[in-house]
Amino acid sequence: MVEQKIITIGKLIEFLMYTVFIGASIGGMSDTFVRLLKAIGATERIVDILNTPQETDTQPLNIQKLKGSIQFSDIAFTYPSRLDMPIFEHLNFEIKSGEKVALVGPSGAGKSTIIQLLLKFYNVNAGKILIDDTDINSISLKQLRGNLAIVPQEVLLFGGTIKENILYGKLNATDDEILMAATKANAMEFISKFPEGLDTIVGERGIKLSGGQRQRIAIARAILKDPAILLLDEATSALDAESEKLVQQALETLMENRTTIIIAHRLSTIRNVDKILVINQGKIVEQGSHYELSNLEHGLYNNLLTLQYQLN
Ligand SMILES: Nc1ncnc2c1ncn2[C@@H]1O[C@H](COP(=O)(O)OP(=O)(O)OP(=O)(O)O)[C@@H](O)[C@H]1O
Ligand SMILES: [Mg+2]
Repeated sequence: MVEQKIITIGKLIEFLMYTVFIGASIGGMSDTFVRLLKAIGATERIVDILNTPQETDTQPLNIQKLKGSIQFSDIAFTYPSRLDMPIFEHLNFEIKSGEKVALVGPSGAGKSTIIQLLLKFYNVNAGKILIDDTDINSISLKQLRGNLAIVPQEVLLFGGTIKENILYGKLNATDDEILMAATKANAMEFISKFPEGLDTIVGERGIKLSGGQRQRIAIARAILKDPAILLLDEATSALDAESEKLVQQALETLMENRTTIIIAHRLSTIRNVDKILVINQGKIVEQGSHYELSNLEHGLYNNLLTLQYQLN
């Protein structure tokens, strides 16, 4: 067109410049759009959290420290997200104050669920859970959870430092108390090897620590809390023999003088408990000491023992 004198060379250059500018701007818009979508996604999550209903709570009773006897009386429970699958229908058991009780049973039997109910993460559909003969529905959540400590199946740490993660057990603890808890939990052994010691950042959800190390931090947390009732949900993933021993020793210190519920996958760790409850499909099928249960010839516990023995 320039050759045929329809447009001038100036107009051609003008046209080319506009094309470049407009093209680049349109290209940039897609990036803005992606960012907009991300922001919408993030906002949805925040709105979800803001809209989470508050847990209903009762007035605090005049008990500061519970003694720690536990009774599950005719409990029925179904997870709200799976109403068609009842977990418990008539669950009954009793644990005396100071007793150490192990929950044993196949995967999916309902062991972790018992602990979640005790912590009132869910409400039961029928029946009563009593602690010190008081219905947990009439104990305030703060008092209830203040008297219970859990070392969960999968330890979740916060993205801060090791110290902050231990402090979570008792927010007003002094530095000496933290150090003592970490030592008793056999955690100082690895913490002191980090250049920053207790101020080491654990990374998002604690990814910079191994499973055994995370567990020992959870144990230190529980030691600091000094609860009446201790809940241990043994990790399914096996630790190596060395850290297993350290974790086991730390747990034994922690269990002294308190009611303890241990969910055990490795049966070798629960030989010395006062009572073993064997759970299968939401029912207690056997209960007694290790000696009593291992003598039941066709018992489930005996069966599990034999299986583990063969595996080893
Ligand atoms: N949040 C949940 N929502 C719905 N169903 C669940 C939930 N958590 C667990 N369940 C179901 O409840 C049943 C009992 O689960 P639970 O976690 O108590 O088993 P478990 O005995 O602790 O098993 P494991 O030995 O593998 O830890 C399982 O069938 C499981 O699928
Ligand atoms: Mg479990």
